[in-house]
Amino acid sequence: MNFPDTVPNDLPRSDDAPASADGNNGDNSGDDAAKPHPLHRRLKSFVKRAGRTTEGQARAFAELGPLFLVPYKPEPLDLTEAFGGRAGPTVLEIGFGMGEATAHIATVLPDTNFLCCEVHEPGVGALLKRIGEQSLSNIRICAHDAVDVLDHMLQPGTLAGVHVFFPDPWHKKRHNKRRLIQPEFVTKLAQHLRTGGYIHCATDWQPYAEQMLEVLAAEPLLRNTAEAYAPKPEYRPLTKFENRGIKLGHGVWDLVFERTSAA
Ligand SMILES: C[S@@+](CC[C@H](N)C(=O)[O-])C[C@H]1O[C@@H](n2cnc3c(N)ncnc32)[C@H](O)[C@@H]1O
Repeated sequence: MNFPDTVPNDLPRSDDAPASADGNNGDNSGDDAAKPHPLHRRLKSFVKRAGRTTEGQARAFAELGPLFLVPYKPEPLDLTEAFGGRAGPTVLEIGFGMGEATAHIATVLPDTNFLCCEVHEPGVGALLKRIGEQSLSNIRICAHDAVDVLDHMLQPGTLAGVHVFFPDPWHKKRHNKRRLIQPEFVTKLAQHLRTGGYIHCATDWQPYAEQMLEVLAAEPLLRNTAEAYAPKPEYRPLTKFENRGIKLGHGVWDLVFERTSAA
């Protein structure tokens, strides 16, 4: 498995902003981490957090990894084959954290296949564990940067949906360029959707919600399904972090945009 470099700080609290839904404030890097190497200016939306893998997660890796992990390979992925011959619409989830929402959604939408990317190793173990506990057959995990997966493994026009829930908000202005939802990446996401496919984003950080609305609305391949922010779709559960935030009076914004037929 290909996990990227580790930065030795786990879920730090921000000096300038509240934490997001998973308790990760998205500023889990020093300034240097936000500076891309001059020869490598592609989107790097994460810094790998250190974190302990529990015994249960390690067992899930050993027992379920061979069945549910899709290794990253820079070549086109046969989606039906990846899901064990299960044909069906495929939703890509980017950054599932500990997989609480992912497992819930896979349960309530059993006919949809979920290809889920996460670079945080304990999170991958946690979702594998949930797959085992809940006997889920419609999830596959790629423990790799979703940007690479999109660029090299997935074909344009093939996805039924993309879920990006509580992406790292990268609060500080000089880190904003690391946010996932920015024009170039959104164009790429839109190109990978089939006509009628959707992008569903959620965030608890208002400035990021505003950026999401602006960027998604400016993408010609997409149309908003709501006037601005969307009502929370029923399939997305309130996670314990989100509930905690709501009790503290924090807002949460959902955005659902649909791929138009324009090429
Ligand atoms: C703030 S957490 C949110 C987790 C989860 N969606 C939730 O709602 O609790 C963002 C997650 O996205 C992951 N992530 C960020 N960029 C990623 C990328 N390019 N590919 C895969 N995972 C990514 C991070 O490792 C982190 O676990």
